[in-house]
Amino acid sequence: MSDTLAIHGGPKSVTNPEPIAAASRWPVFGEEEQEAVRSVLERGGSYEENGLFEQEFAAFTGSRYALAHNNGTSAIHAAYFAAGVQPGDEVITSAYTWHLQVSQILALHGIPVFCDIDPHTACIDPAEIEHKISPRTRAIAVLHPFGCVAPMEEIMAIAHRHNLKVIEDCSHAHGATYKGRPVGTIGDVGCYSLQASKLMTAIEGGILVTNDTECYERACLLGHYERIPRLQERYRRYYDPAQTMAPTCFGYKYRMNPLAAAIARVQLRHLPERTKVLRQNMCQLSDALRDLSPAFRPPPEAHGTERVWLNYICEYDADRTGIPRQRFIDALIAEGVPASHGRPGYLPVYWNPLYEDRSMWAPGYPFDAPYTTRRVEYPRGLCPIAEARAPREVGLPVLRHACDPAVIAQIAAGVGKVLRNLKAL
Ligand SMILES: Cc1ncc(COP(=O)(O)O)c(C=O)c1O
Repeated sequence: MSDTLAIHGGPKSVTNPEPIAAASRWPVFGEEEQEAVRSVLERGGSYEENGLFEQEFAAFTGSRYALAHNNGTSAIHAAYFAAGVQPGDEVITSAYTWHLQVSQILALHGIPVFCDIDPHTACIDPAEIEHKISPRTRAIAVLHPFGCVAPMEEIMAIAHRHNLKVIEDCSHAHGATYKGRPVGTIGDVGCYSLQASKLMTAIEGGILVTNDTECYERACLLGHYERIPRLQERYRRYYDPAQTMAPTCFGYKYRMNPLAAAIARVQLRHLPERTKVLRQNMCQLSDALRDLSPAFRPPPEAHGTERVWLNYICEYDADRTGIPRQRFIDALIAEGVPASHGRPGYLPVYWNPLYEDRSMWAPGYPFDAPYTTRRVEYPRGLCPIAEARAPREVGLPVLRHACDPAVIAQIAAGVGKVLRNLKAL
């Protein structure tokens, strides 16, 4: 076949876009979800579904406790609260994560301390964590970015040395494992978003897992007042046993909608088989892309882990090729490869004016409030690897459903063809 690029009138590498579109379609709900929702409605909107989802998710992850939430953001807020983050406490987190994972530290008047990332995996860099610990550090928040599993043993060793809690944000990593253990169960608390784009979804929802009774009970205190009668004595002081609930705690009301729980239960049942198909497809693509060019890297899989792909984000080095990323992406699209920039919203979090202006609701709060003991700064250049990352990202389709290997080979062939002919661009 001619090697003339499709952008210059040559033949397209991908001959039919339909199989890629079909394999990437998400979210997908079927008869089972519809039946599950109908059944909750027929039972008058029963909350029973939430408890069942929690039991099933706890069993899936091998956790002692699971606590369903109305979204991933509230689960993360509860996780920091569960970990005991107090006003002025510092929480070490990645500069390259979802901004709401960090703003939930501020919600507790905690102070985020940003760490740079590993240039290959985009995971928080353990060596940086060690440098950023101060006497006020309370916890470390770890993201498994786009499903690439972070080096949990190294992170846990640091945490144990300094007596810190570890919170895993698994919102990109449903179904991924670290040395055979599900993500979210290695740290003290794990959180998952179940929002519509995620690998398992309730449309909106979240869930927190932990093996630690104290963490679980604290998470209940923040947003689940109906659980208080079942908590330990000291949390039940205002509970009147004649009534069914305790008018106490914070009342954030983070309870999941039972319709969402019904959908989540079905999605959880399908997660193992979907993870298997996803891994088959994306491993085939990664194998085919791995050695195409030193200027192009498919997303890595860390040793000892089985990752997943919320997004399939490659790195393209325009400095090395001299061809701008946008031109590279345009050439891929012309070949029929649905290429894009990375996941929207993934800039270094501290570029957000919230941090640059050091003010959230009143000048200086919480960054310079009386309860802080040192000034944590957020200058440009703080985390250079995270800052350099976004302009290098090129997204390829995530093939979540069964896909003919020949179609995956066509995607790889399209990328290879453009990389071979960069000079012509
Ligand atoms: C890494 C990460 N953490 C937390 C969240 C928040 O989850 P939710 O949108 O369900 O509130 C998201 C959502 O995209 C996320 O990507």
